Amino acid sequence: MLGSDINFFYYSGTGNTLLIVNEMIKIFSAKGIQVNLHKIEHTDPKKVDTGKIIGLAFPVAFQSTFPFVWDFFNDLPQTEGTPVFMIDTMMAFSGAIVGPLKKVLVSKGYNCIGACEIVMPNNWFPKKINDEENSDKFNNGLRKARVYAEELIDGKASWNRIPFLSKGLYHICCNDFMMKRINLADGRRIIVNKDKCLKCGLCSRLCPVNNIEMKEYPVWHDSCEVCMRCLSFCPVNAVLIPGKEFKQYRAVKAKELLSENFGES
Ligand SMILES: Cc1cc2nc3c(=O)[nH]c(=O)nc-3n(C[C@H](O)[C@H](O)[C@H](O)COP(=O)(O)O)c2cc1C
Repeated sequence: MLGSDINFFYYSGTGNTLLIVNEMIKIFSAKGIQVNLHKIEHTDPKKVDTGKIIGLAFPVAFQSTFPFVWDFFNDLPQTEGTPVFMIDTMMAFSGAIVGPLKKVLVSKGYNCIGACEIVMPNNWFPKKINDEENSDKFNNGLRKARVYAEELIDGKASWNRIPFLSKGLYHICCNDFMMKRINLADGRRIIVNKDKCLKCGLCSRLCPVNNIEMKEYPVWHDSCEVCMRCLSFCPVNAVLIPGKEFKQYRAVKAKELLSENFGES
C-alpha cells in the first residue's frame, strides 16, 4: 500500500505530462492520499524531502529526457529506502530513460516502486495536428494513468527495464555530443518575428531554463533545450526557427504551466 503523503515533481513542456499528473492526483486524492505538486524547474533537488514518497513525471526527449530534468534527478539527495515512482509521456518510444533513471535512483538509496510510460500526442514540431487522433491518445493516456495510480496504491506497480536496449540507447542519445551539439542545435536558431511580436514576455516567463531575456524583444541565449514552450505558446505565433515548419501544439493553457498551485490537491 502507498503511504498517505506524496511529493510529486513534474516538468511539462506543452501540457501532456501535466494532464497525466492531474489524472493520477484525482485517483490518489479519492483514496485520501495527500499530493503536493512541485515543478521540477522551480525546485532545488538537494532540498527534496526524502521523508515522503516521491513521484517524478516528465516528457521523453530524444529517447531520454531534457538535460535540466536529468540534472534534477542527479542532484536528488541520498536516502535510505524512500519510495519513488516515475511516469513519462512520449509520442511513440522512449528506449533510454526508465533503466538509467532507476540506476541513478538505486545508487542514491531510493526504493523504485513503479515506472510507467504513456503515449500522448506529439509536441515536437508537428507538421499537422489531427484532433481526432489526439483525442484518442488523450483518452487512452488518461486511462493508463488511472490504472497506474491504482496499481501504485495497491502495491502492484513495478519498475521494469529493458536491460541492454535501455543502456545502449542511453549512451547513444544522452552523451554530451548528441544532447548539446546535434539534438539541441535547433535551440540556437530560434528567433522572433518582430513584426508580429507583442512584447508580452510570455515566452520568457515560460522558459524552464531562463534562457530568454526580455529586452525590447525576447532574446535567446545559449542554453535552450528545445522543450517547445516558447514556440508552442506564443499567442501570435511569432517565435520560429527559420525554414522549420510546424503547427503550434498545446494541451493546456499557458497559465496552467505558470501557476504554482494548479493541480495541487
Ligand atoms: C525535443 C523533443 C524531443 C522528443 N523526443 C521524443 C522521443 O525521442 N520519443 C518520443 O516518443 N517522443 C518524443 N518527443 C515527444 C514528447 O515526448 C511528447 O509529445 C510528450 O508527451 C510531451 O509532453 P509535454 O507536453 O508534457 O511536454 C519529443 C519532444 C520534444 C519537444
